Amino acid sequence: MTPLERELPPDVLPMIRTIAMPADANANGDIFGGWLMSQMDLAGGNLAQRIAHGRCATVAVEAMSFIRPVRVGDEVSVYCQLVSIGRTSMNISIEAWRRERSEENDERVTKAVFKFVAIDSSGRSRPLPPNATARLSAASRPSSP
Ligand SMILES: CC(C)(COP(=O)(O)OP(=O)(O)OC[C@H]1O[C@@H](n2cnc3c(N)ncnc32)[C@H](O)[C@@H]1OP(=O)(O)O)[C@@H](O)C(=O)NCCC(=O)NCCS
Repeated sequence: MTPLERELPPDVLPMIRTIAMPADANANGDIFGGWLMSQMDLAGGNLAQRIAHGRCATVAVEAMSFIRPVRVGDEVSVYCQLVSIGRTSMNISIEAWRRERSEENDERVTKAVFKFVAIDSSGRSRPLPPNATARLSAASRPSSP
């Protein structure tokens, strides 16, 4: 793949950026899929909470793909984008990208669509507020040059 053909990560701020550590690895030295899913859940839940102005629960994960392995020491960035909203639910497209810490080659490693539901203090679904998407611009603004 030439530099021009290289995939570029989304031009928005990641919801989460972290380093994959040895405790997150399996016996082969690759990072557990479950760890990556939990990072995606955390990142998407953070965006959902901002949209719903309150507590949310993950209700479904669709089309989960593990595209490439993540290695110990990689920088992992998780990007989220609201795809659609229902009465109480939000579909959020979530991608994780890896970057070898000493390199500049970003690679997409996972993608999925998570569904979050706004819930009340008793854990029951509640309608999204009328201005649900108003805070989105702050959550997904382009990164600074
Ligand atoms: C989230 C939860 C409160 C929803 O309860 P519920 O009785 O299904 O609520 P509702 O019937 O009002 O449905 C709520 C929304 O979820 C959607 N939904 C519910 N179950 C779903 C499923 N299995 N797949 C996709 N969507 C689903 C409904 O379509 C609805 O969307 P809409 O209001 O935007 O149209 C309940 O399923 C729950 O507590 N699940 C466990 C959540 C959890 O523990 N997650 C892990 C930790 S965060």
